[in-house]
Amino acid sequence: MKTEIKSISEESLAEADALLQKGGLVAFPTETVYGLGANALDDDAVLSIFKAKGRPNDNPLIVHVHPDYDISVLIDGEPSYARSLREAFLPGPLTMIYPSTGKVSAAVSCGLNTLAIRVPAHTGAQALLRRVNLPVAAPSANKSKHVSPTTAMHVYRDFNGDIPLILDGGACSGGIESTVLDITGETPLILREGLITREMIASVVGACGTYTLQAGERAKSPGMLYKHYSPRCKTVLLPAGSIEEAKRIYAATSRAYILCEDAVARTLQGYRVLNLGKTEYDMASSLYAKLREGEEVADCIIAIEPSKKDGVMAGVMNRLTRACRS
Ligand code: TXA
Ligand code: MG
Repeated sequence: MKTEIKSISEESLAEADALLQKGGLVAFPTETVYGLGANALDDDAVLSIFKAKGRPNDNPLIVHVHPDYDISVLIDGEPSYARSLREAFLPGPLTMIYPSTGKVSAAVSCGLNTLAIRVPAHTGAQALLRRVNLPVAAPSANKSKHVSPTTAMHVYRDFNGDIPLILDGGACSGGIESTVLDITGETPLILREGLITREMIASVVGACGTYTLQAGERAKSPGMLYKHYSPRCKTVLLPAGSIEEAKRIYAATSRAYILCEDAVARTLQGYRVLNLGKTEYDMASSLYAKLREGEEVADCIIAIEPSKKDGVMAGVMNRLTRACRS
């Protein structure tokens, strides 16, 4: 199959619409990462996402809808605080997990009785979702376990020959996937950290927890179990401040690159460096591009943890730790 990259226009949207309506896959940009979309009402289309990605069949998908889509047909009620969260943060990088009516294909939630729904803020994503006017199931458009894509070219490298169309909306500004929030309980619970932080959610609804998997328990969000976001070269993760240790490993490796925040990069003149930038938003937005850049050129990426760990950095640290997990 020939894989085409097309910028977003009336013509490419019409083509994407036709593909989705007949059960095909289309990759599209969002404000977080690129998604690999299929009609969430069509069993075969949803199953083909799992096949194309090599995704385990117990890792449920997020359904994407445009801001005016009536989600009441998809969800079986919601707590009153969910509305406040929608008003505060949507459209935007927040996915909410509701009790499901079972209208979408059972393959979307892998047999769970809940449904993850996201309303992206990206104008290209919204244009596509309005045009198809369907719930679109879309995981990040990377092969399972690989680094998530923040450009159309990243998607192309993983899916060239597997999918017909990639809509190109430029580089994603957010850079890490949406915050996944379970709203089926009395207080919201973060299952995956992202740009909408625990502090931001708590400031609207009073309280917000972060889920951590207890030993022996079935994961609330199965995706959390997997090694993920991994570059295809060796990686080493060092605690913040480990500059001497990084230099030692660097010297013992033939083509190492040091991945670090800007303040550290500036002390590494003459070293091969992957600079994540200065602010927490810079680091979120550049992390995946730098990991993908690194795997092309390095035999080992030596990552030094950034010093800040709260707010948006909680999400960045979660991705970095899992990318470097062996
Ligand atoms: O920003 C994003 O969320 C991107 C863009 C494309 O929208 N999508 C994305 O999808 O990151 P994916 O499939 O890579 O991650 C979905 C996450 C997984 O960790 C999955 O386990 C969790 O959401 N999830 C989906 N449905 C769930 C459900 N019903 N209950 C618990 N977790 C769920
Ligand atoms: Mg993913």
